[in-house]
Amino acid sequence: MTTPAQNRATARGVPEPPRPLAALDRSHLHSSLSDPLLGSVEFLNEVMRRYPDAISFAPGAPHPDTYADLDVERFMHRFLEHAGAEWGHTPSGARRLLYEYGPSRGLVNGLVADLLRRDRQVHASPEAVVITVGAQEAMLLVLRALIRCDDDLLAVADPCYVGMTGTARLLGVGVVPVAEKEHGPDLEALRAACRAARRSGRRIRAFYVAPDFSNPGGNHMDLAHRRELLELAEAEDFLVVEDSVYGFTAAENEELPCLKAMDRGCRVVHLGTFAKVCFPGARVGYVVADQKVRCEGARTTLLADELARLKTMVTVNTSPLSQAVVAGMLLEHGGSLAAVCRARSGLYRRNLAHLLDELDGLRDQGLSRDVKWNRPAGGFFVRMRLPIRVDDELLALSAAQYGVLWTPMAAFHLGSGGDCVLRLSCSYLDAEDITAGVARLGAFLRGEVGA
Ligand SMILES: Cc1ncc(COP(=O)(O)O)c(C=O)c1O
Repeated sequence: MTTPAQNRATARGVPEPPRPLAALDRSHLHSSLSDPLLGSVEFLNEVMRRYPDAISFAPGAPHPDTYADLDVERFMHRFLEHAGAEWGHTPSGARRLLYEYGPSRGLVNGLVADLLRRDRQVHASPEAVVITVGAQEAMLLVLRALIRCDDDLLAVADPCYVGMTGTARLLGVGVVPVAEKEHGPDLEALRAACRAARRSGRRIRAFYVAPDFSNPGGNHMDLAHRRELLELAEAEDFLVVEDSVYGFTAAENEELPCLKAMDRGCRVVHLGTFAKVCFPGARVGYVVADQKVRCEGARTTLLADELARLKTMVTVNTSPLSQAVVAGMLLEHGGSLAAVCRARSGLYRRNLAHLLDELDGLRDQGLSRDVKWNRPAGGFFVRMRLPIRVDDELLALSAAQYGVLWTPMAAFHLGSGGDCVLRLSCSYLDAEDITAGVARLGAFLRGEVGA
């Protein structure tokens, strides 16, 4: 319909102003935007906004006390001193490092390589490390580099962190779920998946797993599974993408070597982050990718070089300011974060033990035996199974009537495995909130499940 003003303009020979674009149709945007995965994350955020007084067992974020007194300026200064004394920069040259575009592979790779050697027994050269915008960017770079075409598949321990399955959807990568059990992934199922893929002319290119207190499952892979997984990777010719975000929460005497520390065949690409031990707003993570890559002629590079090349087209470089703060923190602790990790680990293990104690209290008060939960020895998460369907509708009811929030697990599962399961996170709460939150959870369970 034309307006009188448009009619007058047309009559005067003035070209009609362009009509504003009608709304874009989401179905004409990339299919990942219509994926229920994004919908469920948005729904959870929306419920948290709508019920600000609800106690939330949803966020897997580090506890705010762990960064309340962080002196960013001091860490920055410490980094500048280091750049002067160890790297030979003048004071203005060192400061320029903070403000200019930096190398795509990162600025503090040497410090991270030292940390990995000291704290995790991972022996990687600085050249094999790329500093990324959180572990999240590392997932994107690794998947983009490793998956060549539709015939290459990613196997994942199921349930799986949505950051990885979401990235796979963004990139259109086919994902094969492999059930995760308490002591590790079902390796026979993984072997069968590799063979089935090969029979159909495809290949499992990589297997993604978080061996130390996975998110959301809370499982801890035992040593036998770690060894067998590496053997299987050799035998079936795939790479292991290890996500070691929660390894630091293990009790001192229960720590197991990460897969990369056990990796004799160069099969493991190792992802890490400073989000949980320094602070998440820094957005600093890293990837160790020491695999050789054959190029034209006889030249070889490292997979890390290829990831850095990709990074030039994604985020260019990880913020040098953030890298400097994290590096300063590392330097203040003698290049090792083991002591910081131990302090943090104590907080999270106390919270986890408290959550489990409070849940046991519900059982003592007569909670239905049909409600079951696991008892992880570390990490941020407890998985709870209910005898009823757990979905967004139930979450909204839990928030509105009982004032308690949690995360439905269905979005973490590739199959239907999580339809009756919810995830409780204890990392962001104080002990009193955990006590009050479990009391509300008890009321919710009594009300919706019965005694
Ligand atoms: C298993 C797992 N991997 C990776 C990440 C993302 O880490 P970052 O914040 O460094 O991107 C998280 C964050 O919660 C996680 O739980």
